[in-house]
Amino acid sequence: MVQSAKIREKFLSFFEARGHKRVSSSSLVPDDPTLLLTSAGMVQFKPYFLGQKQPEYTRATTVQKCFRTTDIEAIGDDRTHLTFFEMLGNFSFGDYYKAQAIPWAWELVTEGYKLDRTKLWITIFEDDDEAFDIWNKKVGLPQERIFRLGEKTNFWNMGPTGPCGPCSEIHYDQGEGIGCGRPQCDVTCECGRFLEIWNLVFMQYDRQQDGSLLPLPKKNIDTGLGLERVAAILQDQRDVFRTDLLAQILKSGEEISGAVYGQSSTTDRSLRILADHSRAITFLISDGVLPSNEGRGYILRRMLRRAVRHGKLLDIQDCFLANLSQSVITSMGDIYPELLEHQKHVQKVIQGEEERFSRTLKQGFVLLDDYIAEIKVDQKSIISGDIIFKLYDTYGFPVELTQEIASEEGLSLDMEGYEKLMGEQKERARSYQEFYDLKERPEEVYRDLTAGQKLSFVGYEKDEVRTKITSLVKNGTKVGEAGPDDEIEVVLGETPFYAERGGQVGDKGEITTETGRIRVEATYPVLDEIHVQRGVVVEGRVAVGQEALARINAGLRKAICRNHTTTHLLHWALRLILGDHVKQAGSLVEVNRLRFDYSHFQAPSEEELVKVENLVNNKILDGLPVRCYVTSLEHVKEMGAIALFGEKYGEFARVVEVGDISRELCGGTHVANTGAIGLFRIISESSIGSNLRRIEAVTGFGLVHYLRERDEIVKRLSSLLGTGDQEIVARTEVLLRELKNKEKELVSLKVRSALAELERELTGSLRIGGTALIGHIFDDIELDHLKVIMDNLQKKTTSSFIVLASKNNGRPLMLVAATADLVEKGIRCDEIVREVSPLISGGGGGKSDFAQAGGKSAGRLAEAVEKARMLAVEKLKIGSGQ
Ligand code: ALA
Repeated sequence: MVQSAKIREKFLSFFEARGHKRVSSSSLVPDDPTLLLTSAGMVQFKPYFLGQKQPEYTRATTVQKCFRTTDIEAIGDDRTHLTFFEMLGNFSFGDYYKAQAIPWAWELVTEGYKLDRTKLWITIFEDDDEAFDIWNKKVGLPQERIFRLGEKTNFWNMGPTGPCGPCSEIHYDQGEGIGCGRPQCDVTCECGRFLEIWNLVFMQYDRQQDGSLLPLPKKNIDTGLGLERVAAILQDQRDVFRTDLLAQILKSGEEISGAVYGQSSTTDRSLRILADHSRAITFLISDGVLPSNEGRGYILRRMLRRAVRHGKLLDIQDCFLANLSQSVITSMGDIYPELLEHQKHVQKVIQGEEERFSRTLKQGFVLLDDYIAEIKVDQKSIISGDIIFKLYDTYGFPVELTQEIASEEGLSLDMEGYEKLMGEQKERARSYQEFYDLKERPEEVYRDLTAGQKLSFVGYEKDEVRTKITSLVKNGTKVGEAGPDDEIEVVLGETPFYAERGGQVGDKGEITTETGRIRVEATYPVLDEIHVQRGVVVEGRVAVGQEALARINAGLRKAICRNHTTTHLLHWALRLILGDHVKQAGSLVEVNRLRFDYSHFQAPSEEELVKVENLVNNKILDGLPVRCYVTSLEHVKEMGAIALFGEKYGEFARVVEVGDISRELCGGTHVANTGAIGLFRIISESSIGSNLRRIEAVTGFGLVHYLRERDEIVKRLSSLLGTGDQEIVARTEVLLRELKNKEKELVSLKVRSALAELERELTGSLRIGGTALIGHIFDDIELDHLKVIMDNLQKKTTSSFIVLASKNNGRPLMLVAATADLVEKGIRCDEIVREVSPLISGGGGGKSDFAQAGGKSAGRLAEAVEKARMLAVEKLKIGSGQ
């Protein structure tokens, strides 16, 4: 058998011998905002194709980790499609072109891998005569083996935009036994008989937003050979899952589930899903992706959940994915060492997510099964939008999962209804987001404000500056001047006011002119560059064009700086203690506190938080210098500074360095030395979404206030309890114990007095033969106590039918119990409860000797109790022939 390791090596050395540089695979998470995941070998070379960067070499060859998300739900249906796969590629950056790429590919396939030439078929782009001639004349393939096809199959696009070009594919005929079996079946048929193995792209255009094609500076080559498919052919398997790349993982799936591959199409499908998905999620997590509800995190979550569900279909009872992932790591770790390096992290993430999902999955299935049974009875075939939404929102069912189950059941989905509910939910979530976004403001009014004027923010160096009022806006309209109590927005020539951005709140302060004074309450950016000061005229009048002294409230700013630098320290410490996967997901830097949102898959332990807090405080007490400087983005990348995903940076960026421990791109204001922070304390840590956590903390005076408040609480407690500080806990424990005992006493008193009341009734109660028939309503007794009373009461009788009711917090409760002799005579407590519970607008159930009901309105409770008793009386009368 030709091992897959040999296939990789043969490819790389073949092209190495032809002047190509061997480049290692890039991460599945691409350095490219237009792409969610690395989908081809060319992704890491995109800047070279576009001519944005000059490579040190003009030929490269790689084995690239790739991920295609187009059709996750179809994975498992056949034996050749995968989400994660390895692509072997050779690339030319403006060097050789078709005339070399095509013959080389042919040589490697036929002489290197020794594939049977008679089984190989070629496709080219319809008007690519050049490629045709090379295949036909240079390589020597007869005309009938070369198919000219259209854009759909033979024009390769990286995505909606980016490098692209016509392509030529090599297909392998797996033989008549596979696919549709039609005599006229050929390479254009989609039945699966002809397997595409290698795609040669003649990369010559850059597709623009509007769809048009711009020629690239040079002509390039980008090829992709599917490793798993070639392995399947060379290992004589018509199934990529049986190649040495996946066989071990598939086998682990068999061992865990007890199912055997190749015995039934449904279990085969599930086993393939387990193998593909466990491999995919293992690689994703080791490249830093965490499960979440959007982007790549959502893809990961969806696949993990789909795998769990298929595990359940295979009757696997316990969590199994971490085990399966271990087998991925074992079988692929030597080729991809990052798997071994992140092994623990991968396992932890999978285990946590699977446990959480399994718990809700169970409940979700019950809901969905019931619902499907119900609509089938009603002969309906659509799953309603609110059920899809509920499954998604409450039970974590990815919509695609519901879709898959629906299609297995022959049902369709009301996606419109679902989308509507999702839209509403997004709207609700916006209020949380708003925090980070700029408030919506009519921008037009600002558009011409600074025409011809360049904004200059001088607040990094200065707290105050002499400048000019260049514009005033009142109620969204430009004005020339403003008077007492007017609420206005002010634009200045130069400004020391920091505008709310990057989580840091805007500055407050004052603007004074010869004739008036403005109290500035907030500063925010408009149109991305204008700092707008909002405030109130508190004295006199101010006018456009006036000289002004703009001064920030330096005390507040200092507090903000303390919190901002601490945010960087906290980020650094979290990564150190919890791991490199921790990423900042949002932050708020205010005067009184800081808030830091970050990605992590579980709650950090008390101990970890203490470590984080100590680390930060150590660095504060070390008095590290903080350096802020502007440099080119290029340089920033070389230094490896942390840039926040989703933030936009221009060509130049501002770097903030704390000692030599932290380096981040940041436009905020900072202390000059960490010593100025004073001290740091975490005041809360919580979850704000799946794999998203939040820390709130205080520094400097914020911490002093916090401690003062706490002290105040301690003081008040100790005075209330009449003890010293040290005894508060012990004293409170004693008090709580006493309270509990008192409660118990109270309950037993209540029960006893209720029983006494009832015993009187017992003696005078309605009797039929030797049977007592009791009905009683209490004012306010909860269910558990009612049960105790029932128990005691029943013990005092030999034969009885008892109805006890209560209005617990206004809601009616009913218990009905019958002794065994009555059950024998045909009394059914559950039936009786069902019959009377509509009287209290409720429902209930139980067994023949005991049943209970709860309802919404107590208005007819007495009637319900009486009716229950009468139903029993009737039964007994019939039973005794009376
Ligand atoms: N980039 C080409 C593909 O992915 C080779 O098919």
